[in-house]
Amino acid sequence: SRQWRGIIEEYRDRLPVSDTTEVITLREGGTPLVPAQVLSERTGCEVHLKVEGANPTGSFKDRGMTMAITRAKEEGAKAVICASTGNTSASAAAYAVRAGMVCAVLVPQGKIALGKMGQALVHGAKILQIDGNFDDCLTLARGLSENYPVALVNSVNPVRIEGQKTAAFEIVDMLADAPDIHVLPVGNAGNITAYWKGYQEYAADGIASHTPRMWGFQASGSAPIVRGEVVKDPHTIATAIRIGNPASWANAERARDESGGFIDDVTDRQILAAYRLLASQEGVFVEPASAASVAGLLKAAEEGKVDPGQRIVCTVTGNGLKDPDWAVAGAPQPVTVPIDADAAAERLGLA
Ligand code: F0G
Repeated sequence: SRQWRGIIEEYRDRLPVSDTTEVITLREGGTPLVPAQVLSERTGCEVHLKVEGANPTGSFKDRGMTMAITRAKEEGAKAVICASTGNTSASAAAYAVRAGMVCAVLVPQGKIALGKMGQALVHGAKILQIDGNFDDCLTLARGLSENYPVALVNSVNPVRIEGQKTAAFEIVDMLADAPDIHVLPVGNAGNITAYWKGYQEYAADGIASHTPRMWGFQASGSAPIVRGEVVKDPHTIATAIRIGNPASWANAERARDESGGFIDDVTDRQILAAYRLLASQEGVFVEPASAASVAGLLKAAEEGKVDPGQRIVCTVTGNGLKDPDWAVAGAPQPVTVPIDADAAAERLGLA
């Protein structure tokens, strides 16, 4: 038996690395594909969750970051930069440590979850908070990478997409074919682009018999692709996808149209309901943005868009521990009892 080696070693012949490339890895990928019993019952389908919060830094970003940092290192970069709603910065910070590189991150002030900020800090990233949103951060990061000696590791860097496509490979490898439908949250739209690329490659090589329909979901207050126009002041409690002008907009539309899928929006209320359902009924704790996929599936089912009997994979993109405020808010507070078995038993409803 051997442990999973990380996505580059596992899928080396499908990724842009050479035989001599030094791989920078935290052994990302190889994440669980968990059957979702309650969601399957509700939809009459076979629903699986691709649990990307199980990656080393707690999100799917690690798949792209192992590629981006590996290539930056190979090209001699001493420093990397990214704009982020939190997860990209956490991942970049960790992989930069492995590569011995400086990591700079630009984040929207006051709009990233505390756990993600803590990750960037503890990994020693240089953090600048910007008085603006993610889109402003990305504009600034692009400008800095064009004019200063620092490599951009956002998903506008095409090797990020290459790394992230491996999630689709893993799903096909586990199910022995592609699912009928793949459901994802959409923010900057890199991940839907990456999955579509991965599914297409496996289908082209006959490893999968078909490609799935791609269903993407944005938060209602940050849904530029659904509205067909840039959202100047995006808002949503799902801070990871609080993005008004996605960099991979056109690629997301291509994934949608070529796959016969759609991109729709879900309200914050629907996101939080799915977040609580995942935790309390499936045992899977995700961050709010991740629940947009499941919220979308449930919305589509209510609208009669989900034919029974289909095989569906929902990606849940990030770990719930990154942003636990929403787990605590609105939940009944724990009661305090004396060190006394009878009192404890009574409180637990056992007596
Ligand atoms: N879910 C989570 C948890 C994310 O962090 C992101 C993006 C998405 C979904 C959307 O993925 O951008 O590829 O469409 N987070 C980026 C960041 C923007 O900076 O961490 P996407």
